[in-house]
Amino acid sequence: MTISTNKKQVMAHQYEGRITYQAPSNIALIKYWGKHGKQLPCNPSLSFTLSESYTQMCVDFKQSKDNKVLESFEFEGKKRVDFEKKMSVFLESIKEDLPFLNDYSLRITSLNSFPHSSGIASSASSNAALCMALVDFESRLLGKDHVDLKKASRLSRLGSGSASRSVSGPMMLWGDFESQNGSDDYAVVPSADLSFFNDFNDYIAIVSSGEKSVSSRKGHSLMEGHPFRDIRFKNARKNLADLIDAMEKKDYVRFINIVESEALELHGLMMNSNPSFILMEPNTLSIIHEIRNFRKNNSVPICFTLDAGPNVHILFPDEYKDICDKFIEDKIRPFTQNNIIKDRVGNGPKLISSELSIAP
Ligand code: PMV
Repeated sequence: MTISTNKKQVMAHQYEGRITYQAPSNIALIKYWGKHGKQLPCNPSLSFTLSESYTQMCVDFKQSKDNKVLESFEFEGKKRVDFEKKMSVFLESIKEDLPFLNDYSLRITSLNSFPHSSGIASSASSNAALCMALVDFESRLLGKDHVDLKKASRLSRLGSGSASRSVSGPMMLWGDFESQNGSDDYAVVPSADLSFFNDFNDYIAIVSSGEKSVSSRKGHSLMEGHPFRDIRFKNARKNLADLIDAMEKKDYVRFINIVESEALELHGLMMNSNPSFILMEPNTLSIIHEIRNFRKNNSVPICFTLDAGPNVHILFPDEYKDICDKFIEDKIRPFTQNNIIKDRVGNGPKLISSELSIAP
């Protein structure tokens, strides 16, 4: 039984203990680029969660009179003051949304299944893992029998926009979109039945594992005075409607066309920003040419998407795995840092364990 007032919630239970979550990273097919207000997107986006690239986060909850929420944070067995500071600021900022944080202190350890600086969005997986653990814990305190995914998505979004799309899977839509029931700019909704895509592989060709040359924050802000701003937001909506239609109809040709043009449009926007950024490397372009030639010569539905960096996500369905595996080993690997991460479409976060007991 819960009595909830604006600031104070009366809990049904007073637990302490540990909750561990795995949350995946995601990659957008329709890109979010440009934001306003409190991490609200200027256009709706559509992404899928990965399967093998995730953050595993273990959160210890202990009752405390201390004003500070985060007691300690370790990343991959080491204290990381930079990450800890960021997480502490975030946790303080969501106390109103999660009033129990006023009465608890947290010790957190985290690790990623994928290498640092591989271009896979660790901000998405880590914010989602953290918010899943927090919202799950709150549900137990309140005696609820389910985790409020909308709330986990909304809070993850405040940490990193695209993290809102990592709280479930496989296909997530974030942003107000007229033809999708229940969609809004605050949190994700699972997308319409796009099962066509569920057996897709995503091999990530690592062209460069260096730090990003432009942060997402800077990139989003460059859309503010961008000459193609209005056209972009209109295009993104049109591309989203067309892509959903193509996926529902299992139309590979249209699917490929839209997915690749979205990736190139994202990079085109950066090239046309002021200041401008070229985030592709020569090897990125070589890989794109290889993929397009291979597709044409072999009639295989293989295509690419890009994040805000030089690495290439290569997408193809299971049915063509053998031929694509060979092509990628022979023709793509030489353009990478001898590094290809073999991932595929995944189903969203997993609760790994929960060990809670009534507080003394
Ligand atoms: O979530 P952010 O603020 O890191 O922005 C992500 C932006 C892109 O990765 C380039 C596109 C997207 O929709 O994920």
